[in-house]
Amino acid sequence: HRQLKDFPDGFLWGAASAAYQVEGAWNADGKGESVWDVFTREPGRTFKGSNGEVAVDHYHRYAEDVALMAEMGMKAYRFSVSWPRIFPDGRGTPNEAGLAFYDRLIDALLANGIEPVLTLYHWDLPQALQAEYGGWEDRRIIADFAHYCVTLFQRFGGKVKYWVSLNEQNYNLTNAYQLGTHPPAVQDRKRFFCANHHAFLANATMIAAFRQHVPQGQIGPSFAYSPAYPASSAPADMLAFENAEEFTNYWWLDTYCFGRYPQAALAHLQAAGEAPDILPGDEAILRNGRPDFIGVNYYQTLTFTENSLDGVTMQRINTTGQKGTTPASGVPGLYKTAPNPNLTTTNWDWSIDPTGLRIGLRRLASRYALPLMITENGLGEFDQLEHGKVHDSYRIDYLRSHLHACREAITDGVDLIGYCAWSFTDILSWLNGYQKRYGFVYIDRDETDAKTLQRIPKDSFYWYQGVIANNGADV
Ligand code: BG6
Repeated sequence: HRQLKDFPDGFLWGAASAAYQVEGAWNADGKGESVWDVFTREPGRTFKGSNGEVAVDHYHRYAEDVALMAEMGMKAYRFSVSWPRIFPDGRGTPNEAGLAFYDRLIDALLANGIEPVLTLYHWDLPQALQAEYGGWEDRRIIADFAHYCVTLFQRFGGKVKYWVSLNEQNYNLTNAYQLGTHPPAVQDRKRFFCANHHAFLANATMIAAFRQHVPQGQIGPSFAYSPAYPASSAPADMLAFENAEEFTNYWWLDTYCFGRYPQAALAHLQAAGEAPDILPGDEAILRNGRPDFIGVNYYQTLTFTENSLDGVTMQRINTTGQKGTTPASGVPGLYKTAPNPNLTTTNWDWSIDPTGLRIGLRRLASRYALPLMITENGLGEFDQLEHGKVHDSYRIDYLRSHLHACREAITDGVDLIGYCAWSFTDILSWLNGYQKRYGFVYIDRDETDAKTLQRIPKDSFYWYQGVIANNGADV
């Protein structure tokens, strides 16, 4: 039994959130509409029609939330800025009241010794840009996104060191342009790869600008990383696994880190007429946007098996919380998901696999030789408030086992700089309302009733407080 290394000094023990999921105040102080403000008003889009108009009212209660973070001993807080709060029409002159809110939040964090980790984009695109030119499907998004980001670099670059560029470009755009479950609810692979190409160009363009404006800072994308497993050692399953790795992981990670698409996937898409249009100059832009670290959002591994040419296609994900209701999902001729009999799952059929986190961190460290930051990891479950308490021992077990896997990965040589659990307080799940909770702090509200919005620390809050206090020595 090998001695485990300690978490490094200065490790960023944190938790995370996203603007749309916590802020509320959807039209306060000059904020414009985001695509999510519009999408959630359409019938049948979300669980019980839930939306972020109030969310957990972090916009007005941020001081109380930061006080709880300080009580917990948190060293880092990852949050996102709402683009339409800064630019109600997507571009032009910034809205000073929107910028001032983030000044107040960042200053409160710094006053409590909490490192802000600022996500530039967590899916809440200004509706004005979606309406004007189709958002990510048009190259004009590249300049508008850069203008928005540079505005934040100039305003906050002196006090924010860690920046996340795009949150889960892979997951968000797959939902938006393949599954049709996020706005603009399209199901078209050609349009998917086009929007995705523009997001890569926007990401790289903005990282190049970051070098000028925040030379001391660190920036990287947050990637929804589900490391792939083969369902068996049969060569057909091994090939399906390789295909899945290339199409669902390396398509993004190689492009961020190496500035080029992986070749087998690109050849396949070109033959299928689904490849993005790569214009002269695009490759140079992509190569110039290498990140400083990779943000890893880890929830589960996925296991793959072969898929016939007339086989399974992409499927809607489980939004019911009923185990065993998620159908297989895949791309005909390439791969499809298969259950992994070695793993248990959550009520939403997400596999629980701490060893998969160790494996994934090692794969990324070996392939890209960059520092890694876990920007999300956590357990979404039904929580019960009983006599003013939430006994979430299942969440503690999940987090402890995943932190143990982090420590094993550090011992294996991975340069892991931080761990932001998802999430700090309970928050609005994009599609699942408040039935699926992740927080250390319970929020008294449900989908249809904002109730008291009272903050109630769960058992996991006090457990994580202890973990931070001794720098993870017991996990
Ligand atoms: C990630 C997102 O995909 O997973 C978060 O970055 C999201 O914003 C989280 O809330 C959990 O997703 P869900 O569907 O369980 O709420």
